[in-house]
Amino acid sequence: ELKENTVIVVFGASGDLAKKKTFPALFGLYRDGFLPTDVRIVGYARTKMDEAEFHKRTTSYIKNPDNNEEIAQKIETFKQISSYVSGGYEDDPSFQNLETYLRDLEAKTHKGKEHNRLFYLALPPSVFTPVAAHVRKNCYSADGVNRIIVEKPFGKDTESCRELLTALKEHWSEDETFRIDHYLGKEMVKNMLVLRFANIALNAAWDKNSISNVQITFKEPFGTEGRGGYFDEFGIIRDILQNHLLQVLSILTMERPVSFAAEDIRDEKVKVLRAIPPIERSDTLLGQYVSANGKPGYLDDDTVPKNSVCPTYAATTLWINNPRWEGVPFILKAGKGTSSFLSIRFPPLLQPTTLPISHYSSTLALNEAKVEVRIQFKDVTQGIFKDISRNEFVIRIQPSEAVYLKLNTKAPGLYTRALPTEMDLTYKRRFSETKIPEAYESLILDALKGDHSNFVRDDELDVAWKIFTPILHWIEGQDGPRPKPVSYPYGSRGPKELEAFITKYGFKRTQEGYQWPVTNLA
Ligand code: BG6
Repeated sequence: ELKENTVIVVFGASGDLAKKKTFPALFGLYRDGFLPTDVRIVGYARTKMDEAEFHKRTTSYIKNPDNNEEIAQKIETFKQISSYVSGGYEDDPSFQNLETYLRDLEAKTHKGKEHNRLFYLALPPSVFTPVAAHVRKNCYSADGVNRIIVEKPFGKDTESCRELLTALKEHWSEDETFRIDHYLGKEMVKNMLVLRFANIALNAAWDKNSISNVQITFKEPFGTEGRGGYFDEFGIIRDILQNHLLQVLSILTMERPVSFAAEDIRDEKVKVLRAIPPIERSDTLLGQYVSANGKPGYLDDDTVPKNSVCPTYAATTLWINNPRWEGVPFILKAGKGTSSFLSIRFPPLLQPTTLPISHYSSTLALNEAKVEVRIQFKDVTQGIFKDISRNEFVIRIQPSEAVYLKLNTKAPGLYTRALPTEMDLTYKRRFSETKIPEAYESLILDALKGDHSNFVRDDELDVAWKIFTPILHWIEGQDGPRPKPVSYPYGSRGPKELEAFITKYGFKRTQEGYQWPVTNLA
């Protein structure tokens, strides 16, 4: 449950992550009444700035498009409960100063003897360890609960991850540590547990006997502009696949946990991850975007080293060596500067709605970001049908959350003919009144409550790195020449080699002409 007498300290308060995600999420929780009533928020960073400047920055990403009076009011009171302290990240006196500040604040605002503190490290990796150490030494509450939230990158490979884990463990216990992978806070990722284990019909088909292949796809229509320096050191695999997509994969494939308790869930995730061998080079497709449509290519970014072979696109196929999943390819794909071009085609016989095509053209965005899971089932037994499409179960994580099942139906009319259509659960339609929380809101609330279910455990991180470390070392030239990524135009669907890649793993396109009704995206 939530603890009263809580102070939340955000380190890196002048940075991008704090501005774009942490503070807006804290505000969202505050606005909706989910923070402890007497909570105080303290920003901390090296930048010297006055409180007005601090508030300006931390509220700059808070949305109030309709100038709602009540929200405007809440923003003002949110400012009153937040304050700023500046100081260094590597010296005791700075943290002693912060401690004095916190004590003062607690004495003024909190009743009772218990003082609870949540430390949020929105920091670059170079200062993770010193800050964690200094906070433990100087700012640890002796009479309350202390918790620390850390953000990726958690190392660069198995070895560096272990070093980081060990360094942090010297100061903070596993129980006090909350490692964020914000994909675990997304509504549809959390929904996967319910979809899988609360539906016997789905569950019955959830294995190698029914499923042919699975794709987990991440598309982002923009490049690495401005983040090129950081990105070039990490690459798309560390940025997206090794953490976000692998988390999705583990929840999708784990066995049923004994309960919803954090350790029961995480035990099952670790178990399935341990059944995945390191990725083979031959199961990998790497790409880098080049200039197109007036947009710069990756190498045109000044912050990127010339001739960099850093992949901005990767497709990798993982295999799970257990009886449920043996032989089923799991294709993880992610690309910067990629988008889905939704061509407007409808089944020859039927249109999904009676609206004129012009309606769709005007509501379609060509640059579409997309994260989805696509489970493709096997062919039906041959014999009675020709050219029948496969069933697919799609979980659209973002944008416009949806779950749909593509299934064949008889085209209505006097002839018998099978037509691919869908059973569609689009959240905006089905849950039109419900606001879907931001991932960070959900996770910060969990951390305040001490619930670890949606955070990454130490051993989980270790197995995750083991799966990816060999190909990462290969890509970085540690055991020979560096592989050269194939190129793809900025804003395209990805490398043209992709089609052959997914076909190799048994993926079959739905019958020509099928289109998921695009109105669902609006
Ligand atoms: C971050 C990556 O972890 O996730 C970014 O570092 C990426 O490169 C972001 O843009 C995507 O998150 P979301 O929530 O927008 O899908």
